[in-house]
Parts: sequence; C-alpha cells; structure tokens
Amino acid sequence: MGKQAKLELDGKTYILPVVVGSEGEHGVDISTLRQTSGLITLDDGYGNTGSCVSKITFIDGDKGILRYRGYPIEELAEKSTFIEAAYLIIYGELPTSAQLKRFSDLLTANEMLHESMKNHFATFPATAHPMAILSSMINAVSCYHPRLIEGYKADMFDVQAARLLSKVRTIAAFAYRVSRGLPAIYPKPSYKYTANFLHMMFSEPYQDYDLKPEVVRALDLIFLLHADHEQNCSTSTVRMIASSQANLFASAAGGVCALWGPLHGGANQAVIEMLEDIHRSGDDGSRFIAAAKDKNSGKRLMGFGHRVYKNYDPRAKIIKAQCDNLLKVLNISDPLLDIAKHLEEAALKDSYFVERKLYPNVDFYSGIIMRAIGIPKEMFTVIFAIGRMPGWIANYKEIVDHQGTRIYRPRQIYTGETERHFVSLNQRKSKA
Ligand code: CMC
Repeated sequence: MGKQAKLELDGKTYILPVVVGSEGEHGVDISTLRQTSGLITLDDGYGNTGSCVSKITFIDGDKGILRYRGYPIEELAEKSTFIEAAYLIIYGELPTSAQLKRFSDLLTANEMLHESMKNHFATFPATAHPMAILSSMINAVSCYHPRLIEGYKADMFDVQAARLLSKVRTIAAFAYRVSRGLPAIYPKPSYKYTANFLHMMFSEPYQDYDLKPEVVRALDLIFLLHADHEQNCSTSTVRMIASSQANLFASAAGGVCALWGPLHGGANQAVIEMLEDIHRSGDDGSRFIAAAKDKNSGKRLMGFGHRVYKNYDPRAKIIKAQCDNLLKVLNISDPLLDIAKHLEEAALKDSYFVERKLYPNVDFYSGIIMRAIGIPKEMFTVIFAIGRMPGWIANYKEIVDHQGTRIYRPRQIYTGETERHFVSLNQRKSKA
C-alpha cells in the first residue's frame, strides 16, 4: 500500500491516498473526499491544487529548475531548436533525423491558410489587437477543416498538430501586416520555421527581408523558452476546454485569450510599456519601485514575480544573456535595457522583493530582444502564443489520450443569499 494521509473532522477519520510523482512531489488525492465526507477543498486561485498528473514538464520553483520531458531548459536552449523541442514536448522523445524531417515536412505542407481566410483579416479594424485576431482566426481555421470539428481522431492527430503549429505563425504574421495596412507575405517552403515567420512579418513584395542568423536564433530561442510551462493559466484553460471534447483549435483559441492578460503572457507588452513610461518620466526607476511596493498605487513591477518560481526564473537568465549578446551583435544601445538592469539590481536588494521572493521572470527581458528585432510591442504576446503552442498541443493530447478523462468541473463554496422568494416588480424596494 502506498502512502496515505489522514484527515480528522468532527471525530471521524478519513484516509486519503497520497500520489507521488517521479521527482518526489507528494499530492493528497481528495477525489473521493466529498463522497465519503461531504467535504470539498477550497484553494482560491488553485495555488496549491494539482489539477492533473502530467508527464510533460517539470518545474521546481524553489530551486529554479525547468525541464521539458526531463531535459533541462539550459541544455535545450544551448543545443536544440524550437521545432525539435516542440516535437519533444508533443511526442515525449527527441526526434530521430527521419522523425524530425517528417515533422518539418508536415509543418511546411500546412503553412498556408485557405485563401478565403484573407477576407476575415480584411474585416478587422486597423486598431484591432493582434491577440484578438489570433484567437478568432485560430478558431476560424476549424471552419476550413471540418474534420477538426468531429473531435479527436488518433490517426489525424499528427496532421492537426502540425496544422496548428504551422498556421499559427502565418496567422500571426498576416495579423501584423493587416494592422499596418501592408500586403500579406506568403510563406516560403524552403525556409525553416522561425526564418519563415520573420520573412512573413518583414519581407516586402519587392524585397526579401535580410535574415540575420543571430536574429533568427534569438527569436527561435524565445519560442523555445516559452514552449511549455506546466499548469499555468492558459494551459489549464486549454485542458479545461479539451476536457469537454472540444476540438484542438477551439482549445488553443481559448488558450490565446487566457494568455492575453497582463498578469500572464501580456506581461511582456506591459514590461516594455512600464520601461517606456519610466524613461519618458525621467525616473531612474526608484520612483517606480516605490510605487510598485505601495499597494494603493495599483502598480506592480511587471516582469517580476511568479506563482511557482520563488527563485530566479531559469528562462529569464538565458534571455538576459541572449539580450546582451543580440544588442551587441546588432550594435544597438537601448536605454530601456539600462533601465531594466537598474530596476532588477535595485529590486534584488530591496527587502520588499527579497522577502516575497520576487525575481525577474521570462517576460522581463524578452521584450527588449523583440524590440531590437523590430517586432512591435502589440505583437509580443502573440510571439509568446506561438512559442506556447507545443505545450498546449501536448496538454491537449494528454487529455484526449487518457482513457479516464472526465470533464473539468471544479466545485465552489457558495456565499450568496440563501433561498428567498420572487417579489413582483411593483413591490420591489431599492436596497441601495
Ligand atoms: N510587483 C510588486 N509586488 C508584487 C509583484 C510585483 N511584480 N508580484 C507579487 N507582488 C507581491 C504581492 O503584492 C503580494 O504582496 P503581499 O504578500 O504583501 O500581499 C506578494 O508579492 C505575493 O503576490 P501574489 O499576487 O500573491 O502572487 P501570485 O502568485 O498570485 O502572482 C504574478 C504571481 C506573476 C501574477 C505576480 O507576481 C505579478 O503580478 N507579477 C507581475 C506580472 C508578471 O510579470 N506576470 C508574468 C508572469 S511569468 C510569465 C507567465 O506565466 O505568463
């Protein structure tokens, strides 16, 4: 018999099994608790709730460890590419040459959008946020591939996954071009994933974009570092939607919406806006730090803090080094980078941030790299979404592959009015 936990309440004892993960994490399995005791557990914001068991990504937030399928993020960042890591995350193992070629060929075969989809892009106002366009258009793809709506089919999964991973960058680039009133640039089958995205973003019909290897590598690394991050808000949303047996594209479109918020993926845009504000106001960062510590100011140091990491986010370390390197190669001196470094240095010495274990997260330096590449800040969260796609696909697959998946349906503790009776309109009195 495995480990067990005991819960005592009102003179009764309830025995609960303890599930132990492969890295030694312990979780009390309370799935039968309500049945046996009438009790539910309450955990506002799911801060201490394991919503599933998963084999995809491991994080140790206290030690600052992140691994995809067991491989440390530092090794993957140094030796792998986004597409190889995507394969690893989705299928569980690093691909052989033949598997990688087949995967790349499938991505190439699925990079185009149905020509009629261009009409959808044309109907968004020029001011539309690209995240709104991205989620709408990912959902719209299923209209052009009706077999998607039939739901999960194991024999179709490879094509569906490749279709989503490939088309998302075409949609993202088209969304950017439309928002600027620029003609859409079609993908080039001879280009690899990230180069092709940069080509669709920045080439012109009369001139191809000059693909600098350092820029392609920097963006590929950003995609790779965002590729999965276990049960964050957007991935949990994808799993939630998938659990109702909605299709992969509907699930991913929901993930994009969850990612958009400034406390999640939208933080990369919010960081640059914060740095721009600090720069414009002539503050060296100290006034902003003081405001971020004041709960009444409504301000937070964006790009700092994490629900899971209570140590330096390992992705932020890699991105910071890449940021220094890219700006040097491109010979760019960005005052926002100096402000960011100053903020980091000041915060890491400040007892408010130290006591709360608030460190830079993945979003703190990524925007500075994207600015250097020429990606506008409205597109930053879209870049995050492209990067996170393998994680969403893998989590979707875990849900649909698992025989016993039940629809996700949390409980609540109701604190509203108890039963009362309908009062007709002419007899109601205002309570205000
Ligand atoms: N600036 C100032 N204070 C902060 C910050 C911050 N960035 N983050 C947390 N705190 C304080 C918070 O006010 C609270 O203080 P107290 O204990 O006195 O009430 C304490 O630290 C704990 O914060 P929390 O809100 O309970 O932490 P959480 O786990 O609910 O939130 C977070 C995590 C990432 C939403 C939060 O740290 C935050 O808002 N950070 C800024 C936004 C950001 O950078 N988001 C990107 C996250 S990483 C990428 C991703 O996952 O998408």
